[in-house]
Amino acid sequence: MANGITSTAMVEAAGRAGMIGFFGAGGLSIDQIETAIDTLQANLGARPYGFNLIHSPNDMALEQKTVDLYIAKKVRLVSASAYLDLTTPLVEYRLHGIHRDANGRIICPNRIIAKVSREEVARKFFSPPAHKYLQRLIQEGKINAEQAELARQIPVAQDLTAEADSGGHTDNRPALCLFPTMKALRDEMAAQFNADIPLRVGLAGGIATPESAAAAFAMGAAWILTGSINQSCVEADTSTLVKKMLTEARQADITMAPAADMFEMGVKVQVLKRGTMFSMRGAKLYDLYRTYEDFADIPESQRKLVENSFLKCTFEEEWANTRAFFMRRDPVQVERAEKDPKHKMALVFRSYLGRASLWAKTGAADRAIDYQIWCGPAMGAFNEWVKGSHLEPPENRNTVDIAMNLLYGAALIMRLNHLRNQGVPIPAMPGLLAPAKKDQIRHFFLEV
Ligand SMILES: Cc1cc2nc3c(=O)[nH]c(=O)nc-3n(C[C@H](O)[C@H](O)[C@H](O)COP(=O)(O)O)c2cc1C
Repeated sequence: MANGITSTAMVEAAGRAGMIGFFGAGGLSIDQIETAIDTLQANLGARPYGFNLIHSPNDMALEQKTVDLYIAKKVRLVSASAYLDLTTPLVEYRLHGIHRDANGRIICPNRIIAKVSREEVARKFFSPPAHKYLQRLIQEGKINAEQAELARQIPVAQDLTAEADSGGHTDNRPALCLFPTMKALRDEMAAQFNADIPLRVGLAGGIATPESAAAAFAMGAAWILTGSINQSCVEADTSTLVKKMLTEARQADITMAPAADMFEMGVKVQVLKRGTMFSMRGAKLYDLYRTYEDFADIPESQRKLVENSFLKCTFEEEWANTRAFFMRRDPVQVERAEKDPKHKMALVFRSYLGRASLWAKTGAADRAIDYQIWCGPAMGAFNEWVKGSHLEPPENRNTVDIAMNLLYGAALIMRLNHLRNQGVPIPAMPGLLAPAKKDQIRHFFLEV
């Protein structure tokens, strides 16, 4: 979860329990990511952990710098997300250090778990890197010809998380439709590689209860990944108010709203609707952006609404802040905006949308109505499941406790299904899947 919401504390807790957490590197500076790497490497040693590598179509330099950092710091596992196509930095990460071992096997020290919701993108990840990337990396002196030859025999990612309807950026695809397609693709693509390079598919999106976890495993998921429910956990680096709002969410309390990063393209993200007006305000801004070429063309009543209620300053004052931000980050945008009023309007509106996430994360009291909280229907399903249990209050929501409960409940369901399929009558057992305390779970797994 971006902006470090999946914090070092959350990744560390997961790693100590033998699970993998991916630090939320998206939206952070290189220095902040570096600090997180140092912390996790010092605290976790050889235990599992990973980092998010998020595609930045508007800032390829940032993507390259992130890859340079991961390579320099020997971060061996990334969750690659938001890719619509592969990029040279992504392929560079995968191929860095590729070699044959003494037995002739191809060794890739860096592993990618691709997070994907589209088959055509999954196909690229499950294929060897295209010739153009290899050529470019050879030219840049980042790999040699022998390494390029080895690269032609391996997939860019051996592991892929199929991401169904989720919090944040999502195609809203139902898991029940998406997973079988991705699994079939895996079977098709696996045939081109040696048996010692198996391809695997996990599932994310909507997983929040023992039943949904069991369904994922029943379909053949090699692992499950959760996001929304973890945002309400004690280890999540977000405000207490956001966690409280999340614990009150029901399944219908979510909606789609314009995305700050791909605003002009009309891309949307799934957010919490209850308790915040962000989705409505975001939609209003997108509507104005679509209709008018210049902020000055917008009727006065609408302009006043945006300035007084959304920006809480004049458009020109907000532009001064936005301009200063882009002068540091990407001055080309300023040059363009000063010639093109529609682009200027987009940058100012995007600035509001982007800051709405930070207001939520920091718990800015005077901005609660503007909070942008990425969240999927999983949150409501989770809240219904844990109602009345020790996991209901946010202060008890420990990441590992929740993950173990999902696995424990899924294991129970699968066992009961096996028995039922063998003709054993299974009586109704109300409360069987209620969240268990840590010791009960430990006992169950030891017995198994
Ligand atoms: C608050 C929040 C922030 C997220 N940020 C990112 C991100 O930066 N990169 C990413 O790959 N996925 C991000 N996701 C998606 C999650 O990693 C995960 O794939 C998704 O939440 C799983 O679906 P679920 O929300 O139904 O559990 C985010 C999700 C949430 C709820």
